[in-house]
Amino acid sequence: MAISMNSISRHTSRWSCLLIAFSCTLLLVPFLTALEKSPFDNYSSYLGTNYDQEYRPKFHFTSRKNWINDPNGLLYYDGEYHLFFQHNPLGTGWGNMTWGHAISTDMVHWQQMEHAILPYGNGYVFSGTGVVDHNNSLGVQKGDTKTLVLLYSYAVDIRKNFGILPPPAETCYYQGIAYSTDKGRTFTLLNDGAPVIPNQGKTVDPKGTERDPKLFWHEESKKWITILWLGETSKGKVRFFTSDNLRDWAFASDMQRPWAHECFDLVHLDVYDDKGKKSGNKKWLIYDGNLDYEVGNFDGKAFHSQQKVRNHKIGHWNAAQTFNNSPDDRTVIMGWLVQGCFYRKRMPFAEQLSFPTTMHLRKQGADHLLCRWPVDEIKSLYTKTHTLPKNIKVEKANQNLKDISADAMDITLSFEPKAKDLVFHMRGSTLTYQAKDNKLSFLSASYAQIQKRLAEMNEKERKRHRGKKNFLLPDAAIDGVVNVRILIDRGSFEIFLNGGVSVLTQSEISELDQLSLFFSHNNTNAIINELIIHELESSWK
Ligand code: FRU
Repeated sequence: MAISMNSISRHTSRWSCLLIAFSCTLLLVPFLTALEKSPFDNYSSYLGTNYDQEYRPKFHFTSRKNWINDPNGLLYYDGEYHLFFQHNPLGTGWGNMTWGHAISTDMVHWQQMEHAILPYGNGYVFSGTGVVDHNNSLGVQKGDTKTLVLLYSYAVDIRKNFGILPPPAETCYYQGIAYSTDKGRTFTLLNDGAPVIPNQGKTVDPKGTERDPKLFWHEESKKWITILWLGETSKGKVRFFTSDNLRDWAFASDMQRPWAHECFDLVHLDVYDDKGKKSGNKKWLIYDGNLDYEVGNFDGKAFHSQQKVRNHKIGHWNAAQTFNNSPDDRTVIMGWLVQGCFYRKRMPFAEQLSFPTTMHLRKQGADHLLCRWPVDEIKSLYTKTHTLPKNIKVEKANQNLKDISADAMDITLSFEPKAKDLVFHMRGSTLTYQAKDNKLSFLSASYAQIQKRLAEMNEKERKRHRGKKNFLLPDAAIDGVVNVRILIDRGSFEIFLNGGVSVLTQSEISELDQLSLFFSHNNTNAIINELIIHELESSWK
């Protein structure tokens, strides 16, 4: 049988086509597998959800959808603030920990971005911090754009609520790095997410839960520093490491404190004198998730405390951190306002972050006291401003307050209680000056409701309301005058007393019809020295 050259070449070309197709498919398999979308990579499905729900906070960060908890990786680079956060992309409860991401030019108006770091292997991505790799220590910089480096805890656990990944054989945490060479638009896991700081061993923390690394550049020693809380069974141990290249980390020192718990941060703060003037001095302040803090010195390897531990948390608060690489000399902190409970109102999102505040120290005798104060950028949200006449009685103040009704406000209030109780009503919740102990007591509308029923409740029901109480601010009147700044949003109250030396943060969803502000008439002698109310527009477009 004669086979024509034509048919041979036809056959050959058919075979070679098949062969090429087959080998291409083989080559494509790993590529296609890599392209298979992670179930956590679902930000595009959020875009149909806007910010127009009636209980959506107007100027506190929430995710378009789903659960958030700790702020993570706060940093500033090239005109943009980056806010990463613990996020469950698959629901409104905790779990499936992923790093969500948002960008802002002013820390007030945020734009949510694609999730930055997704769970991988059989573990999740817990809290951590981020830096701008200013001297290309990691060695991956592209062009002039500095690399953004995120140091996170990789957490594996067999508990069900961790998420949907198959349970791991081994359980322990380690610290890994993700980086971005395109100003935070995409992220890559360094060494595919392998440990950069390995687990420190079961002798340190039998549970293996060390986490929440704080990474920063220490200019004096020209080193990168990481501070790591060594976990739930480490008896309050905190370990310091140093590095030149962000990849290799050397042990520097250990610190042990009974108060130490999660999410450490170490910041170098301006010291103000007791008259509120910048002294030109700076001190180091170390703090944990509960805002327990000590003030002292950091020598590049160890923290040396110079005063006893204090606490700066009153109310709903956890796991705060500060922005690395701030553009000015401010230190700005954001925390998680726990117990947002937006699920009760069937919102598509859960939980919220605090409004950003600056931090500084005020010298008082030999001690240094932490102060927090809302960042000035809040002014960009002011719409109407109501300035009441100065030094008026309560009755006159109430007449002026009658026509003011807003769901988000920035209030400056200064009053002389004249040694008697005075109650300020705000959207159904109350702030009471307690003359007997010179304290301010905040009672949220929802707890006031619960209080009425507490006596009838059984133990189980009462337990459900465990976190709820009247929160108290100490040392309210100084020389007979109380000075407060109050931020009110649809889901929270943040109260800054006497320049922010005490701060109360309360998650509380005020009812839609509760908009009024007024004083109770119980103290007709009190003088309202100053009352300025700025109504705030929403920061969401
Ligand atoms: C604090 C915290 C961190 C942990 C993260 C997990 O709220 O428990 O210690 O990394 O939350 O979401």
